[in-house]
Amino acid sequence: MAFTPGLAFHILTPLYDGLNAALGFGRPFMQRVQAALALHGHETVLDIGSGTGTLLAALAARHPAAHLAGLDADGRMLARARTKLDAAPRVLLLQAYAQALPFRSAAFDVVVSTLIFHHLPTPVKRMALAEVRRVLKPGGRFLLADFGKPQSATQRILLHAGSLFDGRENMQANLTGMMPALLVEAGFRVTEAATAYRAVQFLQAVNDEGK
Ligand SMILES: C[S@@+](CC[C@H](N)C(=O)[O-])C[C@H]1O[C@@H](n2cnc3c(N)ncnc32)[C@H](O)[C@@H]1O
Repeated sequence: MAFTPGLAFHILTPLYDGLNAALGFGRPFMQRVQAALALHGHETVLDIGSGTGTLLAALAARHPAAHLAGLDADGRMLARARTKLDAAPRVLLLQAYAQALPFRSAAFDVVVSTLIFHHLPTPVKRMALAEVRRVLKPGGRFLLADFGKPQSATQRILLHAGSLFDGRENMQANLTGMMPALLVEAGFRVTEAATAYRAVQFLQAVNDEGK
């Protein structure tokens, strides 16, 4: 299966953390994600498209009792994540695709994804959302933090420029504000739809099935 690398080109992977921070998606963004996740002690958590492991490292430090797993399609990103997670060997890291999750059904209390869905074409987004719902326990929650419909002219220009690298088809559903509808179509109850950090929309979705 093909995938779009974190910074569009593999050659840029070593620069990922530095560039991400320079673009404003470093520590303040991850703090916002952690606050939105509101983890409780022993929850099982899956980070889809975990990249260089920044979120997992922060969660491992702050929630020692949580059971954490991350997956990414890109072995180069996972290698960086493994280094960052040296101090937290209990975190499970897997090379796999969001649209074919290698976990049994109802395995997780919480699934999170930051800045990966805009890398997926719409049919793959649909497959990935079905997979997220499958691996969530009844009542489990999904935090999807990714670009939404631009809220200003500056955001419109920047996000459309970004789509030249990350792919127009990949970003289309994000930039047209379709992500909440795709979540509902996948069977989730969307409990929040707000632009929470720059152009990133934080969508909280709950799997009500079987409750
Ligand atoms: C922009 S990076 C975001 C990484 C991290 N979540 C963050 O916020 O810094 C997108 C990540 O999604 C991964 N990715 C892209 N397509 C994927 C897919 N189909 N399945 C799993 N991971 C994928 C890329 O390898 C990359 O690590």
